[in-house]
Amino acid sequence: MNDTCKAFRIHNDDGQHRASIEDVTFDDLGEGDVLIKTRFSSVNYKDALAGTGKGKILRSFPLNGGIDSCGDVVDSSDPRFSNGDQVIVTSYGLSVYHNGGYSEYLRVPADWVVKLPDGLGPFEAMVLGTAGFTAGLACYRMEQNGQRPDQGPIIVTGATGGVGSLAIDIFSQRGYEVVAVSGKPEMSDYLKQIGAARVIGRDEISPGQRPLEKGLWAGAVDNVGGEMLANLTRTMQPWGNIASIGLAGGFDLNTTVMPFIIRGVSLLGIDSQECPADIRQTVWNLLATDYRPRHLETIVDKVVTLEELPEVFEQMLSGKTKGRVVVNTQETTA
Ligand SMILES: NC(=O)c1ccc[n+]([C@@H]2O[C@H](COP(=O)([O-])OP(=O)(O)OC[C@H]3O[C@@H](n4cnc5c(N)ncnc54)[C@H](OP(=O)(O)O)[C@@H]3O)[C@@H](O)[C@H]2O)c1
Repeated sequence: MNDTCKAFRIHNDDGQHRASIEDVTFDDLGEGDVLIKTRFSSVNYKDALAGTGKGKILRSFPLNGGIDSCGDVVDSSDPRFSNGDQVIVTSYGLSVYHNGGYSEYLRVPADWVVKLPDGLGPFEAMVLGTAGFTAGLACYRMEQNGQRPDQGPIIVTGATGGVGSLAIDIFSQRGYEVVAVSGKPEMSDYLKQIGAARVIGRDEISPGQRPLEKGLWAGAVDNVGGEMLANLTRTMQPWGNIASIGLAGGFDLNTTVMPFIIRGVSLLGIDSQECPADIRQTVWNLLATDYRPRHLETIVDKVVTLEELPEVFEQMLSGKTKGRVVVNTQETTA
């Protein structure tokens, strides 16, 4: 093993963002019980915000970017893990206050590490990544709260994104009728291919401003927030569940209590970052079995190297990506 490894490292020099590929020493990887030789990572919206400096994601500098990682344990002082174990690490402090997965090696606390479930390969695990885990957690929380396919359609907003695409795949394979909301009409065929029964445009979802409009949806997976989420609260059927995941369209929520107290609607918060370890392992196990998406190959948009990350971040923030981008952390472009 060399005493350095390659990583996409993010700096802040007196308020100036700077990020590039660097050689990082193993000491620089930070504290942790488990050293992992990574294989794959992925690109999430949060990674794009952190990697470009356009969002305040990092709480300390410099750090290796990347909120997702999958690879092989090469050293562990924790008895739960042995050399050669295939493992997943997502979120927690990665690329926030601890070095992340855009690196050939990762060292993390053992409590952050999840064993790769049987039935999922390292590449598939990173097609899922935080996006798939979050979509799975939404399904888990909604079903724990009584959601069933025979209650009616599930609406998924931000449909062509990573979380949106994987939510469509997961819910449709569980027997739900999924309605996808997208700002990209040209992606209708893609959305139907991965499981959407119907696709509607973003501008078609403005039902009126009364606190309660006609109930259309038995459940909702919202990646957008803002006015989109407010509209969803007004148009839920009685006892419907809304999983609030994202803020791609804004973080405000202008609604009333009426959907909650008259229709029994539940607004479920989805937090993938600090999700407790037992629920985390349960959801990953479900993603390898009952929730396993059927269209991962279609959902992968591309596989990139660490060097190609800046270009992908810009594409993602300008809404030009679809599905998931996987990062091969051991391969160079040159
Ligand atoms: N709560 C959590 O734990 C958690 C975990 C992961 C992600 N997230 C959040 O979930 C959201 C989606 O993440 P992602 O990784 O799937 O990102 P992504 O791949 O970039 O997808 C976001 C999608 O939202 C839609 N969108 C973008 N800008 C919009 C706007 N101004 N108005 C309405 N729709 C817009 C687009 O889909 P269409 O063009 O198809 O409409 C876009 O593809 C982000 O806000 C992210 O921060 C939260």
